[in-house]
Amino acid sequence: MSSSPDESAFVRACRGLDVPHTPVWFMRQAGRSLPEYRKIREGVGMLESCRRPELVTEITLQPVRRHGVDAAILFSDIVVPLAAAGVDLDIVAGTGPVVAQPVRTADAVDRLRVITADDVDFVARAVRLLVAELGDTPLIGFAGAPFTLASYLIEGGPSRTYARTKAMMYGDPELWHRLLSRLAEITLNFLRVQVSNGASAVQLFDSWAGALSEADYRRYVLPHSTAVLSGLAGAGVPRIHFGVGTAMLLGAMGEAGADVVGVDWRTPLDRAVAAVDGRAVQGNLDPAALFAPWPVVAQETQRVLAEGRAARGHVFNLGHGVLPDTDPDVLTRLVELVHRDSETGAAAGVVSSGAHTRHPGGRGGA
Ligand code: CP3
Repeated sequence: MSSSPDESAFVRACRGLDVPHTPVWFMRQAGRSLPEYRKIREGVGMLESCRRPELVTEITLQPVRRHGVDAAILFSDIVVPLAAAGVDLDIVAGTGPVVAQPVRTADAVDRLRVITADDVDFVARAVRLLVAELGDTPLIGFAGAPFTLASYLIEGGPSRTYARTKAMMYGDPELWHRLLSRLAEITLNFLRVQVSNGASAVQLFDSWAGALSEADYRRYVLPHSTAVLSGLAGAGVPRIHFGVGTAMLLGAMGEAGADVVGVDWRTPLDRAVAAVDGRAVQGNLDPAALFAPWPVVAQETQRVLAEGRAARGHVFNLGHGVLPDTDPDVLTRLVELVHRDSETGAAAGVVSSGAHTRHPGGRGGA
């Protein structure tokens, strides 16, 4: 139907333009929920697999083939650019990123090198291979936002309280801002590599920003995430900004320079729309709801679609990543349901007046 990724339902919805159906993709759509993923990853470490362009291409394509989602997301990880910057880290299955020597001093911050395109050449190659394979299907590039990256570097791994992260933030604001501006540079360079090699959109994951109050987010984080997103303003691709537990931060996350604000399952999309000042929204079915019987999944999906109609643009997604034990057939069925239930008259062959056929309760056209 579309003739280029730029004309796809996904990119159009990100821009708040009319679409033939609500586009859908899933955070963590590539990964352990897929048997073909588990098979191809056998004996290959996570970071190592991110550095093999052919493997990255295959893993990225797996959910596109299987589920018929409207977008691919590059198979990589938020810590890949940190490893490329010389940080000694590993991604431990079942745990997440673990940093050998946590970054807690000025010396450690100064040792963080800002990466160049050469440091992540394998990413550029994977993106080019993917764009050639994907045809009209858009590829989403991504990176971790400065706060979420800083939390892994300072804590040394995942954290419940972010106590050490906040200790630096409150206790040594100067060092904190030095660290976050360095991370913003790394992130921006990493995203530029993906966009300049053909990614059609980017998502900035500030997964753990919900640990902060709005006031602290605005003071300690927003300037740095803004540096990343505004650095891509001229790139011509939609920018999605996502975090978990961010009900109080949605407005600020939009202000950072997002075209689309990702919403977790705690905030109904129609309420999120009111917070994001006319920006498109992405979300937000609870990933755990996929373990309920199908009629419940269908009902929840329809609720999310209905709430999403309040937005100028809605990209359907889960409220966070696919859980590893998810039945992949439920995901496939979910994609079909989203497409069918959101299909507009124009796409179904009905002659329309050219007006928006979806978002009847929306904030008006472009
Ligand atoms: O399909 C996709 O969404 C693209 C792939 C992707 C991965 N990581 C692959 C991955 C993306 C977008 C990420 C981003 C990422 N990584 C985030 C932001 C998204 C979010 O979940 O909020 C974060 C916080 C990380 C850090 C990280 N890496 C975690 C928490 C984990 C999970 C640890 C575990 O095993 O449960 C990882 C590892 C990881 N990244 C896996 C995958 C497929 C699992 C590793 C494996 O399969 O062996």
